[in-house]
Amino acid sequence: KQIQWFPGHMFKSLREMKEKLKLMDIVFILLDARIPYSSMNPNVLEIVGMKPTLILFNKTDLADPNKNKAWIKYYQEQGFYTLDIDAQSGKNVNKIYDKASEILKEKIEREEKRGLKRRPIRAMIIGIPNVGKSTLINQMTKSKATKTGNTPGVTKAQQWIKVNEQFELLDTPGVLWPKFDSLDVGFALAITGAIKDKILPTDDIVKYAIDYLKKYYPNRLKERYGIDALNLDYVEMLDQIGIKRGAILKANEIDYDRVYTLILTDIRSKNLGGITFDTYNKLISL
Ligand code: G4P
Repeated sequence: KQIQWFPGHMFKSLREMKEKLKLMDIVFILLDARIPYSSMNPNVLEIVGMKPTLILFNKTDLADPNKNKAWIKYYQEQGFYTLDIDAQSGKNVNKIYDKASEILKEKIEREEKRGLKRRPIRAMIIGIPNVGKSTLINQMTKSKATKTGNTPGVTKAQQWIKVNEQFELLDTPGVLWPKFDSLDVGFALAITGAIKDKILPTDDIVKYAIDYLKKYYPNRLKERYGIDALNLDYVEMLDQIGIKRGAILKANEIDYDRVYTLILTDIRSKNLGGITFDTYNKLISL
């Protein structure tokens, strides 16, 4: 069962994207390192076709470092070139050019042999909403040419950006919708903020997140909230977190809405440490 949430304009932008791709030397697929599986649109390969491709793992600062390695290895085994970056701080962004040049080595050499002057590499950045496309473009241009914003699904106008002698980027919306035919993927997208909180019920999102943390990162819950996650059920955990963090209503009841918000905020702002919300189980269940 697929959850229909993406706006129709994304289909239109997909057609445009395929057109624009013809002009490109290379495509950069931006993934969220916290959800390296769920942030990959399964149709992307069909969209990208035979175009040289580099997968950029973004937001590695927010993800679990050990899982970063494993997922990068996974994609490399699938035959992709990869690079881990952090678009916000700029980590490894200066390595993108060398990596792209390496991938395009033969083409560049061919053009040089034909006596053509070395020209900027034409590249397009694509990815699901909120994965960091605008942030990366800003980082690459080191200017405020494009605006970033935390509004998933907002399309921005198309424009060419000449980064420098190295790159010419197309700031298409480049927006791919995440496809989720499993709830696991839907929750992973919701927890990381890739889809709006309204699409899945907040209490379900938090329940999923807490169950996941209890299973894979119980110590983080202990460190952050001082709770013994393994010996508590879900509601007991919410209650203890609510009491410890003062999320109490007038009648001495737990303010669950506030507890939900603080848990999601903690996860998204790395207060629980780097966490990766995709496991290999998702691949197996394909
Ligand atoms: P998009 O164009 O793909 O939709 O995404 P955009 O660049 O707008 O980025 C979405 C949010 O993700 C932004 O945060 C941005 O700062 C953040 N972000 C992008 N790359 C990274 C990264 O590598 N690490 C971290 N930690 N965050 C990243 P925002 O909520 O709009 O607020 P702000 O942080 O920009 O103030």
